[in-house]
Amino acid sequence: MFAWLTRKITNTMSDSMMSRMLQDPYTENMYSMFPITQKIGFRNIIEAGMRAESGKPIERPLGSPVVLSPWEKLLFNPVHLFRMPTQDGVQIQTGVTIGPEAQKPLHLEIPVLISGMSYGGALSLKAKIALARGASMAGTATNSGEAALIEEERKEAKYFIGQYNRGGWMNTPEQLSRLDAIEIQLGQGAQASAPMGTESHQIGPDFRKAMRLKPGENAVIHSRLTDVNSARDFIRLVERLRKEYGVPVGLKFAATHYLEKELDIAVEAGVDYIVVDGAEAGTHGGPAILQDDVGLPTLHALSRTIKHLNKLGVKDHTSVIAAGGLVSPGHFLKALALGANAVYIGSIALIAMLQTQMNKALPLEPAPQTVLYLGKFKENLNIDKGAQHLAKFLKSCVEEMKLAAYALGRADLAQISRKDLVCIDRDLAWLLDVDYAGFSHEEQQLAREGLQTLPEIVLESVLEQELPALKNIH
Ligand SMILES: Cc1cc2nc3c(=O)[nH]c(=O)nc-3n(C[C@H](O)[C@H](O)[C@H](O)COP(=O)(O)O)c2cc1C
Repeated sequence: MFAWLTRKITNTMSDSMMSRMLQDPYTENMYSMFPITQKIGFRNIIEAGMRAESGKPIERPLGSPVVLSPWEKLLFNPVHLFRMPTQDGVQIQTGVTIGPEAQKPLHLEIPVLISGMSYGGALSLKAKIALARGASMAGTATNSGEAALIEEERKEAKYFIGQYNRGGWMNTPEQLSRLDAIEIQLGQGAQASAPMGTESHQIGPDFRKAMRLKPGENAVIHSRLTDVNSARDFIRLVERLRKEYGVPVGLKFAATHYLEKELDIAVEAGVDYIVVDGAEAGTHGGPAILQDDVGLPTLHALSRTIKHLNKLGVKDHTSVIAAGGLVSPGHFLKALALGANAVYIGSIALIAMLQTQMNKALPLEPAPQTVLYLGKFKENLNIDKGAQHLAKFLKSCVEEMKLAAYALGRADLAQISRKDLVCIDRDLAWLLDVDYAGFSHEEQQLAREGLQTLPEIVLESVLEQELPALKNIH
């Protein structure tokens, strides 16, 4: 009876809806919302609503959904006979050294690091502890983000990178002396160097105490470091930090079309490592315009960074960490093949750390509500479970990267290079100086040596097939 009734009602409702859609004039027709949504985009409609509600910049979590880096157009080149695959049973090396020329270089067991995500301004204490514990279990580093040194996080972290930040909270000798690397943070992919902050009413006593904020004071991240108002200031800062602390001193900035100019100054300063944070990078919550419309895609930025450091002859002693939209072992290994020494992960680390604990918020609340400092379910996070899941995620990714190394005939992840890549897009192949999938390596070598131009090859074969008559004109 009930089934019959439901069918009856549904049928009647869909009939009347269909008739109305087929008959009503367009401007009165519910169907018009479809092309309207197509024109504007569902995301823009919703974000316009949020802007109309607050009159303030919206704070979109975890970064831009606009992915501009076509990693999927790159493939690795497996070997079989002309070069043999790595014998199974051979131990594939995965270790990496950040800042080889520092007095105390940072040696890590895997080339995947947990990126800077600040306590308070972004994540809860429990989430920071789980990330640090998971990173330690996997033999890699975690990063403070733009915050002060948090005792619990330092205690859990086997390798701890601290950000010398535009909030100033980490920038004191007693804190800097407890770090395994110092990362001067001038910007990040999702927010560039725009001023940001947390309003006083969102700051609890724990956060206020940790950042040494006065009652009623907001936590402000300025657009500049207070002590860096020129390239000269920056150079002096790097020299001082390297001398006083001996650990690798790095620069993190938002990938930009000016990156070669920024790198020239960083190299003159003698930084030990560079973090290139691409336009696809995540954040706890940031203005959409900075996420969608500012920066340079991670893939393009990484390739240009490596090329420029090679050109300056400093690539061997300046480590490069790529970040921004890297979410799979394939992404990680392609970034290494393009010349990065390691990768930073943010968003995917949170997702992996959460795993089924996402259900503590879903389906009625978004998953980040379990890890954010202002998250409704932050106290429900099980730290140990989170740490285990993150460590297993990292292990799984590294195991997959090692399997690829066998197939490529490589015994060390650090040996994998542009030679091991091919690209199915010609322009991208040219940009990345990687072979194009349409021709053999030898043909392209000829073209690179100027003995033949590839377009000519193309033209020739096209002419042969399609327009024999035209060939003679050419
Ligand atoms: C929750 C969250 C908080 C972040 N906080 C910081 C920060 O304090 N300092 C910083 O330099 N970058 C911060 N970032 C950016 C990350 O360090 C990293 O550059 C970025 O997440 C990489 O992109 P991905 O999320 O696509 O992996 C944050 C990112 C997230 C997701």
